[in-house]
Amino acid sequence: MKILAIYGSARKNGNTAQMLDAALSEFPAEAEIKKVYLGDLKYSGCGPCRECKTTGYCVIEDDMQQVLKDMIWAELIIIGSPSQFSDVSSEVKMLMERTWWMKGALRNKIGGYVITGRRYIESTINTLHAFMLRHRMILGGSGALGYTFTEMGGLENDPLAIRDARATGKRLTELYQIIYENKLNQ
Ligand SMILES: Cc1cc2nc3c(=O)[nH]c(=O)nc-3n(C[C@H](O)[C@H](O)[C@H](O)COP(=O)(O)O)c2cc1C
Repeated sequence: MKILAIYGSARKNGNTAQMLDAALSEFPAEAEIKKVYLGDLKYSGCGPCRECKTTGYCVIEDDMQQVLKDMIWAELIIIGSPSQFSDVSSEVKMLMERTWWMKGALRNKIGGYVITGRRYIESTINTLHAFMLRHRMILGGSGALGYTFTEMGGLENDPLAIRDARATGKRLTELYQIIYENKLNQ
């Protein structure tokens, strides 16, 4: 079970990371988990070049290249994002843009997410759904949202947050087993 966990907040140990860690804690012990902290990386969003139209891959040489390889390696991708101005963080959005050339490369990978925030989070959810569905990924999880009431911490005020994040990990595991281990028909 090859899992790529994408930590999409600039804050490595913030609310979103706590949610993502809770989701990851539900994967089986033998799962291979790669963690990527977008805040540690130097990269841009999509640029003006359109080179990928002829090369078939993104030619921007920066830290995102390794993440793109990791996305291709993974069978299951889980993204954690804070809601920032009613959408995913700019770190997550730039990553999304950089996958524009990946026509079909993410097809049938299992995808899930956890989100933190409180207000206007609907469009954050929508962006994550659109990203995964447009790549023809298999969207799973439990729609885990952690309501954060203060900028620093606050997740503990939402008693359902960690429970829902764990439910996301459980559901993604269940989907993996149905697809890769034929569990539905056993
Ligand atoms: C630039 C910026 C914009 C934000 N915009 C929103 C927003 O639109 N809606 C919301 O609910 N929270 C918003 N927040 C709050 C964060 O989503 C919230 O504090 C989140 O839990 C932070 O996650 P982290 O601890 O992983 O960084 C914003 C925070 C920042 C820094």
